[in-house]
Amino acid sequence: MKTLEINGNTGNSKIYINKPFTYAEKLLKGKRVVIITDNNVKDLYEDKFPSKEIITIGAGEGIKTLQTIEDIYKKLMDLEFDRTGFILGIGGGIVCDIAGFAASTYMRGVRFGFIPSTLLAQVDASVGGKNGVNLEGHKNMVGVFSQPEFVICDPEMLKTLPAKELKNGFAEIAKHALIGDQNLFEFMEQNHKSALELDPEVIGRLTRDSLVLKSGIVNRDEKEKGERRKLNFGHTIAHALEKTLGLSHGEAVAVGIGIAAKLSVKMSDLSGEGENRIYELFKNFDLNQNITISCDEIKKAVRRDKKREGDNINFILLKKIGEATIEKIPIKVLEGVIDDMC
Ligand code: GLY
Repeated sequence: MKTLEINGNTGNSKIYINKPFTYAEKLLKGKRVVIITDNNVKDLYEDKFPSKEIITIGAGEGIKTLQTIEDIYKKLMDLEFDRTGFILGIGGGIVCDIAGFAASTYMRGVRFGFIPSTLLAQVDASVGGKNGVNLEGHKNMVGVFSQPEFVICDPEMLKTLPAKELKNGFAEIAKHALIGDQNLFEFMEQNHKSALELDPEVIGRLTRDSLVLKSGIVNRDEKEKGERRKLNFGHTIAHALEKTLGLSHGEAVAVGIGIAAKLSVKMSDLSGEGENRIYELFKNFDLNQNITISCDEIKKAVRRDKKREGDNINFILLKKIGEATIEKIPIKVLEGVIDDMC
């Protein structure tokens, strides 16, 4: 078991890796706790929840709206919940994003923590203090940076996940490996079969190394002024694919990374061999790269990206496996390379 810390301007966070989620009871002793979760997670784990005061929300990206947040505020008011209480989000990335945003804004902010129940939420979404919702279909347009007091990653919770959901997590772990940890990438190459079988040692290492990398970056650049942008590697195109093709987040991230790798060969130092290893890895994790997407859609995604600054975009490229670079590229130049690639 390892505990990591994030010490940011928006709060301090303790991340407990490989800890049973019932540990929350100890952390929350004597506090009034309201749990925000979804019905799937509630049905599976309610008997072990550390509180009987529970607000459930629906499932799926469509629920990540300001309307859901308003519904939560109203329920908290009905419960006469005040600033002395604690909000605990138990669920996947969507539950964590929503619970964190509601907690950070209700009565100008109450204390909160997370028990992420999916691999994606454990290795990425629950950690780092980004909380928010979508607006008119645009991802994470409204939100705050605010650190959860704790995150408990319990590997036992992953056993109930469908394969499609696990793949979402593996795509984000691969992203972490590609931007900053060559050893982790090699470990994934060598252990993909055991990872897919949820071998506890393999999953433990993938989770730990991913979180060591992410928490390090967040500690150095909490509000994404520089280095944290690397955590968006592959995501510019992925967000467009999620929306237009209805792919799951992980599937879309894998394709987005594949395209960003191709661009990295053209515009940075990534070798063709490096690019092929990335495709091979995604194939081994059953993350399909053979998607038909028009170049116009890729270019539209680039133009709309949050990392755009006027006529330029801060685009993340790979120099090699395990090392990313943030390049300010004129959008016209990037579009030219995309046209050539098509
Ligand atoms: N998931 C990207 C970030 O936390 O910055």
